[in-house]
Amino acid sequence: MSNDLYAVIGHPVSHSKSPRIHSLFAEQTGESVEYTAIQAPLEDFEGTVRHFFEQGGRGLNVTVPFKEQAWALAYRRTERAEKAGAANTLFQDQDGALVADNTDGCGIVRDLVNNHGVDLAGKRILVLGAGGAVRGVLGPLLAEHPSELVLANRTLSRAETLAALFAPEADETRLTACGFDQPDSPFDVIINGTSASLKGDLPPLSPNVIGDGTVVYDMMYSLQTTTFNQWALEHGASQVFDGLGMLVEQAAESFRVWRGVLPGTAAVIETLRTD
Ligand code: ATR
Repeated sequence: MSNDLYAVIGHPVSHSKSPRIHSLFAEQTGESVEYTAIQAPLEDFEGTVRHFFEQGGRGLNVTVPFKEQAWALAYRRTERAEKAGAANTLFQDQDGALVADNTDGCGIVRDLVNNHGVDLAGKRILVLGAGGAVRGVLGPLLAEHPSELVLANRTLSRAETLAALFAPEADETRLTACGFDQPDSPFDVIINGTSASLKGDLPPLSPNVIGDGTVVYDMMYSLQTTTFNQWALEHGASQVFDGLGMLVEQAAESFRVWRGVLPGTAAVIETLRTD
């Protein structure tokens, strides 16, 4: 019997670690999964997705720059995808209708809470950025019941829009928006969800946001310590983490959505670090 076919779809996609991660999951769980990478033309994401499923494909991960298109294309969306406004996971239901899910938020929370032992309940969290990446993780972060979540962004209006969108999810969390110049006292957890690190830029933040026990999480990952984490260490952060764990955790949750089996992640994260 041939393996069930899955893929990550993006542009570019050749750098993606997803095929490696999912082949490690398949090996570990014994699931009959084959997982490849597909570079869709920028002007024909939809056609590429349709072709994949017509050929018998079972599920797709979606990466830059197609996550919003994947969301829009789906016939149905899970609740967490609906709120995220973007999808990183696609599959078909029993009737062949395209379903969109988003496992990114679940990924960052599991990495922080399960892998790094960082409890978010009752904590003061500073989230930097207000783009698609941050929107994708806000719901699951708020579900951990932090006492406060401050959304800081270069463009204040985008942070305000996101804060208003997630106000119904905030419950007892004080959810506010501001520019980078405003936060001036230590936070328990700081999450960098801007794309500034990609260009080696730093959000112009006061170092006062870092106290003795501050944990810093950069959603980016790289072989070297990211620019943001380097800055945080220089100003006394107690622990810094990059987004490799989040990447593996979101992949594990997609695998669970497709296969009904949640793979273990610790050994896979370890393998990727040393690849
Ligand atoms: P993504 O899907 O990665 O979130 P995006 O929606 O384009 O991409 O959002 C990028 C985020 O990084 C935004 O919050 C952006 O700030 P603006 O809303 O002001 O554009 C932020 N960003 C990008 N480059 C930055 C830089 N050099 N310094 C600070 N913030 C930056």
